[in-house]
Amino acid sequence: MKFSEGDQCMLIDQKDRKYLVSLQSGGQFHFHRGFLAHDTIIGLDSGSIVESSGGAKLTALHPRLADFILRMKRGAQVVYPKDIGHIIVWGDIAPGQTVVEAGTGSGALTCALGRIVGSTGRLVSVERRDDHAAHAAKTIERFFGGIPSWIELTIGDVADHIEETRPDRVVLDLPEPFEVVPAVATGLQPGGVLTTYVPTVPQLQQTQDALDQAGCFADVMHLEVMQRTWNVTGRSVRPDHRMVGHTGFLTFARKLAGAP
Ligand SMILES: C[S@@+](CC[C@H](N)C(=O)[O-])C[C@H]1O[C@@H](n2cnc3c(N)ncnc32)[C@H](O)[C@@H]1O
Repeated sequence: MKFSEGDQCMLIDQKDRKYLVSLQSGGQFHFHRGFLAHDTIIGLDSGSIVESSGGAKLTALHPRLADFILRMKRGAQVVYPKDIGHIIVWGDIAPGQTVVEAGTGSGALTCALGRIVGSTGRLVSVERRDDHAAHAAKTIERFFGGIPSWIELTIGDVADHIEETRPDRVVLDLPEPFEVVPAVATGLQPGGVLTTYVPTVPQLQQTQDALDQAGCFADVMHLEVMQRTWNVTGRSVRPDHRMVGHTGFLTFARKLAGAP
């Protein structure tokens, strides 16, 4: 795939440092080893090697979704790629579904969910803070090259948007998912999956309490994801010294039939 104007480009230097650039004709990328004209990259194949004015060799690649999320500008705390993988698989997100997500936050999870549901699906992403919503809209636009027609960015309280949407899946990354559980109990399709993501144990307990009180959820599972990367250089084969420690706890629950 060749680079075009407007594309995201990830530049990797010889020390494996990574930089994210939005390619604009006439633009320049500056770093400690000089600069590089964006026009040098536009038209090249992804995976090409380019050279900065200071003689540094950089590998130019289209970023993967995970690269984009780890390097994009953040407002609210994002969901990390390690957790997004589980949200998609255990939250059972698939093309063509109608999904309600909140809060939009920085838009990281929105990019992932929007890419999966695709043009045959519908993603209603709700955020109650105007500043976060505006920031997320820019990020989503940057990632997709525009806001896809199937992603609806909505400002408000997510609890007010579930019943009218009748989603197949609900994904909640907000501090009080337990307050939204009654609305999910009413609006989620029978058999649908609710996924919640919270950073602390009391929030996890309150989420389970809310599911118990609603009385219409089954097959509940809680988990956290620990990911350890490895260094493999010659005979130095060992885990990396640093890893992302704690992020959050995921809960998955299925809505029973016969509930409202
Ligand atoms: C941790 S951030 C979400 C980050 C997002 N998932 C991402 O990956 O970029 C939580 C967001 O939820 C929003 N929020 C909290 N309660 C909400 C509610 N009831 N309805 C809609 N948004 C809510 C907050 O304003 C905040 O922006």
